[in-house]
Amino acid sequence: MDRFIDTAAARLFCRVVGEGQPVLFIHGFPISGDMWYATADALADRYRCIVPDLRGHGRSEVSDRISITEFADDMAALLDALDEKRPVAVVGLSMGGIIAFEFFRRHRPRVRALGLVNTRADAESPEGVERRQKMAQAAIRQGAGAIVELMIPNLFGPPFPRDQRDAWQAKMSATPPAGAAAAALALGARRESYSTLPQIDVPTLVVAGDHDKITPVATLREIHDGIPGSRFEIFKDCGHVPPVEFPEQFSRVLADFLDSLPGA
Ligand code: MLT
Repeated sequence: MDRFIDTAAARLFCRVVGEGQPVLFIHGFPISGDMWYATADALADRYRCIVPDLRGHGRSEVSDRISITEFADDMAALLDALDEKRPVAVVGLSMGGIIAFEFFRRHRPRVRALGLVNTRADAESPEGVERRQKMAQAAIRQGAGAIVELMIPNLFGPPFPRDQRDAWQAKMSATPPAGAAAAALALGARRESYSTLPQIDVPTLVVAGDHDKITPVATLREIHDGIPGSRFEIFKDCGHVPPVEFPEQFSRVLADFLDSLPGA
């Protein structure tokens, strides 16, 4: 079911499908919950899949400023509003993974498991901060499409069909300019998460794409090596967005992981 949820901070759009143990899906930048819908549909026969649009993305309210911490706290407020008190499996891709790390630090009792998909654990470099500031300015002046145009050549692996690539480019470009700008600055201001890795004491799945130019396999391998007992899956011929590029395979890998959790 699609709905708008009013939290104290913002009105957030959210899709909730299925019944069972809860799974919270956090999308990347600058995109929307849409990137998880195929996965959520595949898991809905036995999981309660909660798929929000982050603040400033998709159909959620825009704030001119946002931080990774506020994104994470939005997720906790959303779970409260959905009356979801059980610990959740938190699955985040790229910026969504960065938010998942922060959610783990701030809301540890609410986390049952983690899925860290094509993400990163470093803080932004000084050059990166400058790049994010330029991105934010470009988004405000020309729309999110200006950022997306630069990202798109690096986003997908070689076999991803051109028409689908164009469709995702259009969806991403529709991100509200102020939302994309605020998220770009939030990414630039992110803290590192390497020091969090050894503290992760919930079952964790780490996913990489062997053609990912944004968060390469080596980055994800480092995250996997840092998290005791984590699982590692590398998708072949895949770029930065496995749930979009290989939806069936991704859903199988995630379902296999979730089905293996204690109490599943
Ligand atoms: C994402 O997919 O969330 C972005 O690529 C993150 C980033 O630019 O670091």
